[in-house]
Amino acid sequence: MLSQTSPQTPPPPYQGLLARYGSLLELPPHTTPITLLEGNTPLIPVPRLAADMGGGFELFVKFEGLNPTGSFKDRGMTAAISEAVGKGVKTVICASTGNTAASAAAYAARAGVRAIVLIPEGKVAAGKLAGAVAYGAQVVQVQGSFDDALSLVVAISQKHPIALVNSLNPYRLEGQKTGAFEICDVLGSAPDWLCLPVGNAGNISAYWMGFKQYDELKNTGLPRVLGVQAAGAAPLVLGHPVEKPETVATAIRIGRPARGEQALQAAEESHGQIIAATDAQILAMQKRLAAEGVWVEPASAAGLAGLAEHIRTGALNPTGKRIVAIVTGHGLKDPDIVTRDLRPTVLPAELGALEETILR
Ligand code: F0G
Repeated sequence: MLSQTSPQTPPPPYQGLLARYGSLLELPPHTTPITLLEGNTPLIPVPRLAADMGGGFELFVKFEGLNPTGSFKDRGMTAAISEAVGKGVKTVICASTGNTAASAAAYAARAGVRAIVLIPEGKVAAGKLAGAVAYGAQVVQVQGSFDDALSLVVAISQKHPIALVNSLNPYRLEGQKTGAFEICDVLGSAPDWLCLPVGNAGNISAYWMGFKQYDELKNTGLPRVLGVQAAGAAPLVLGHPVEKPETVATAIRIGRPARGEQALQAAEESHGQIIAATDAQILAMQKRLAAEGVWVEPASAAGLAGLAEHIRTGALNPTGKRIVAIVTGHGLKDPDIVTRDLRPTVLPAELGALEETILR
């Protein structure tokens, strides 16, 4: 149940995730909060989309694209940067398909420290690259995949005083647990199913940790977890690394997920599953979600694309269930995917021509 606040007593101002949930996160005492007031994202009911999938169940999307840098990465980044800066770190580094880079760059800027981001050459969406540059990070393109870039940043952070802020950093997961807390706080309990995209597998691992912790504390129950990879980058479904991952969902174009084992464990423990969705299914779901007014980047639609297919084939019976889909990043991150085939109607600036075009 949502709590009601009387108009005379406005709620205290929102101060970000560490202020709200810090006591539930395993962060060292030296942690010094660096925040952009991330989190607190809306859980939007999408009944028409549920009806399209056959109906008879409740469906919500948690719109993580409304975080300060446009993706869920800000949850983990506030924790990781706060810990690093509190320890006296002056430089942070990450490998990224784009969103982690933009988030690390923003939080490093907020803290006044240096950020270096390694991205796979030519495979990062425009809005993410622009973000990393705008926030002042040093952007390095690697002639290789995300997995190659991750190996490099792990090696350099072991050799030099540079803090790694990929989700191998345990504090990233601590921060990302808060997504699970928020869902339980809004719904009053965990949903029956949680579906979300899987790339490097940090987020699915963090959500499962968060739901388990909240259940122990508050008896909120546990969801079954449906993780969805892109079919061309589905090592956890195939059971082996993918050397040359390919997908239109560049955010999850990852062949060797760093948290792969933990993700498989989350799926197993929760009696869920990790499945794959094709690029066509992902793009169709991106379009379908936009028709609800929720525009997300392709990767963010993967969870729902997998859910729809699982329901269609009868692998998942949603009847009477409450399902939450994490939609991880904003559509503005990857404008090209939408505009690449755009042929706008061009008219002379005349009323008659406009009438002819739109009233026909
Ligand atoms: N959705 C989006 C929009 C992402 O950017 C990512 C990961 C994921 C889903 C998957 O999350 O890796 O925790 O399983 N992006 C990383 C990055 C890899 O570098 O921005 P995951």
